Amino acid sequence: MHNVRSIDPAAQELLKKAYRDGIETVWERYDKQQPQCGFGSLGLCCRHCIQGPCRIDPFGQGPDKGICGATADVIVARNLLRQVAAGAAAHVDHAYDAVEALEMAAQGKIDYPITDVGKLKAIASGLGIDSEGKEPDALALEVVHVAYGDMGNHHNRPMKWVSAHAPKQRLEVWESLGIIPRNPDREIREAMHQTTMGMDADPVNLLLATAKQGLVDGYAGLKLATDMQDILFGTPAPVVTEANLGVLKEDYVNLIVHGHVPLLSEKIVQWAKTLSPEAEAVGAKGVQVAGICCTGNEVLMRQGVPLATNYLAQELAIVTGAVDAMVVDVQCIMPSLSQISSCYHTELITTMPIVKIPGATHVPFALEKADEAAQEIVRKAIAAYARRDPNKVHIPDYREKIIAGFSVEAIAGALGKLDADQPLKPLVDNIVNGNIVGVVATVGCNNVKVTQDIFHVEMVKELLKNNVLVVATGCSAHALAKAGMMNSEGTEQYAGSTLKAVLRAIGEAAGLGAPLPPVLHMGSCVDNSRIGDLVTALANYLGVDSAALPVAASAPEPQHEKALSIGTWAVAMGITTHLGVIPPVLGSKQVTELLTVGLAEVIGGKFYVETEPQKAALGLIEDIRKKRRALGLDQ
Ligand code: SF4
Ligand code: FE2
Repeated sequence: MHNVRSIDPAAQELLKKAYRDGIETVWERYDKQQPQCGFGSLGLCCRHCIQGPCRIDPFGQGPDKGICGATADVIVARNLLRQVAAGAAAHVDHAYDAVEALEMAAQGKIDYPITDVGKLKAIASGLGIDSEGKEPDALALEVVHVAYGDMGNHHNRPMKWVSAHAPKQRLEVWESLGIIPRNPDREIREAMHQTTMGMDADPVNLLLATAKQGLVDGYAGLKLATDMQDILFGTPAPVVTEANLGVLKEDYVNLIVHGHVPLLSEKIVQWAKTLSPEAEAVGAKGVQVAGICCTGNEVLMRQGVPLATNYLAQELAIVTGAVDAMVVDVQCIMPSLSQISSCYHTELITTMPIVKIPGATHVPFALEKADEAAQEIVRKAIAAYARRDPNKVHIPDYREKIIAGFSVEAIAGALGKLDADQPLKPLVDNIVNGNIVGVVATVGCNNVKVTQDIFHVEMVKELLKNNVLVVATGCSAHALAKAGMMNSEGTEQYAGSTLKAVLRAIGEAAGLGAPLPPVLHMGSCVDNSRIGDLVTALANYLGVDSAALPVAASAPEPQHEKALSIGTWAVAMGITTHLGVIPPVLGSKQVTELLTVGLAEVIGGKFYVETEPQKAALGLIEDIRKKRRALGLDQ
């Protein structure tokens, strides 16, 4: 429970308006859920068969086994494996759509370009495909063939996307544990089977299967999705724009894209520009597109589209009364948006066959008809603008300048200004000499159990002060963007002295005329693969295991099953991964022990739970310092 709902001033202002307008938000619904079920919170409720539900008494006074005999350890471990498998399924489904899009683009069946031939060649070469003399379309089809080969692999061989992209030392660790995925669909199916009634009752075996799901997520989900999307739409390069709801404009048609997949939103951005004269014809100055959650991050990274807000304030965006249309694709979309839209003039538009919300308008999205769908959506926004009630409009005047677009290629590009032959060398040298103590990746969501953004911001302040470089994705990136940590002024304000000096030097060399931001925006949640690529590149450059690097990860305010699967992948990479909200595992001492201590012995990485931001930062720094000591680096 908490008194302050958000530290975001725009959200605070709109919460007052929501109250005046009689709008119920996620925070009121959360309050109405109190007290939440203690069994569920501890992971001690099993509903895997209909003899149940069964629950274990955490105080040892009631039942200590389910009807079938499953213990607390078994129930908690099974529940966790199912959650992580669900997170992985979401990312693999996303990646599959992107593979299909690249295939159809290469076959000329859809009107999507292959924008980044350089990236296509780099990925082909990583997979052992020779690009020499091949047309991009033909080469893309070969890459797609490997991806489909993994998706449908019926042999017992490891997925190629894993063996081609993982750090070498890691592959050996995973192989020794027998957790290298063969085929994502098969692994996810197996996890569902393994956890159904009367199946696996060994918590250790269940946790190893969970680690395998982490690898499914990391490679068949995140990495595959990012690779396909970069080929189609381009690898991000630095862009300058703004973040927070103040990017909405009173005299423009405001169209928000929300969700996770850029296949439609890229088209919407394009058509919003093309159809601008139609907006002018109804008295607006144009169409302003802005993003929520990761669809927002995707079009920010590649097109410089401003960020509207992150997960927890999605409802409040509509409460501005200035959003003419909100178009959603998949994941992290609150069903309540429909009800709230109905109190304003906002057109809520669903687009995917697996995401329909009663009360929303459904404009079906198919790759073959993407342009038509995008035009229809932009026109619906323009039509809604005419229905906007000026008396209901309040756009909070908050926006922060941000520099985003830091793909690994962009980071290497900036560093390459210091050392063209070995772009990673300046970063590594500064880590070795201690100017940069280490790198922390902050990722993941907002969670209504935490004051919105506070954990992201307060923890990162402490990290930066201690000369830790921060890279961010997802709603964490939104939070840090809104807090002014993604611009040069943020470096002056928040970075410790040695980190500041390095960021100034890189900024000068890269021709920014100002320091690099202290937090580098690396993209959406699937773009955590970029962080994985950076870690892999650093490990390969130094010839060490990724588990040895002074690198850590944190999901300060996780809410989604995807956050658990991404976190599990990070742990499998050997990285200490902090969670600021306790996942439902405390009902089992054994599982909790394994996740936070035992796993480190076999896999190198572990989960670290700390619910206080400063303490979490100091804990991560301590972990990084331990790794520095083990590498023989000066403190
Ligand atoms: Fe109960 Fe076992 Fe059925 Fe779970 S699988 S609901 S613990 S009987
Ligand atoms: Fe996301």
